[in-house]
Amino acid sequence: MRDAVYPGSFDPITFGHVNIVKRAIERFDKLHVVVMDNPNKNYLFSLDERLAMVKNDLKEVKNVVVDTYNGLLVNYLKEHKIYNLIRGLRAVSDYEYELQMAHANKSLLPELEIFFLMADTKFSYISSSMIKEIAMYDGDISKWVSPYVESKLKERLLKK
Ligand code: COA
Repeated sequence: MRDAVYPGSFDPITFGHVNIVKRAIERFDKLHVVVMDNPNKNYLFSLDERLAMVKNDLKEVKNVVVDTYNGLLVNYLKEHKIYNLIRGLRAVSDYEYELQMAHANKSLLPELEIFFLMADTKFSYISSSMIKEIAMYDGDISKWVSPYVESKLKERLLKK
């Protein structure tokens, strides 16, 4: 069984993430989408709220396990004996950060192989932060997030 992990903050999940999941699952038997914390970020949604949105958006995608983990990524990988990691790359600007994380993770877990998928051009310019900013001003975000995520964003950001 070839399993892989696709970790991220997913604050919130976007169609860009869903696109990576659907392409990754074509190459592996099972994909663990793991909602995690990046200690350098301030999140709009709690881990449980982010998890609920990821579960909702991926409920129809087969061979996907949605999970959450509050700790080091390599510890999740070791606990589950998974040595394939998926990350998406949108632009050159992602590269330096991803390279740093990849080397750090690989040095903590040498058996690890990291696979980078280029984000689909339709989604290569979006980020969760940009979508949150547009939602804050009640802009149309329906091209980038599901109706469920859109409703959660508007509920949180437009609440008077
Ligand atoms: N399409 C659209 N947007 C995408 C995307 C895609 N395919 N892939 C990533 N993004 C965006 C996200 O929306 C996010 O935008 P934001 O910065 O505005 O929120 C940004 O790219 C990066 O998101 P993500 O891929 O979730 O990375 P992250 O930096 O938020 O989280 C973790 C990285 C959680 C995997 C990392 O911090 C981690 O492993 N944490 C656990 C602790 C640990 O092990 N630390 C040591 C790491 S070496």
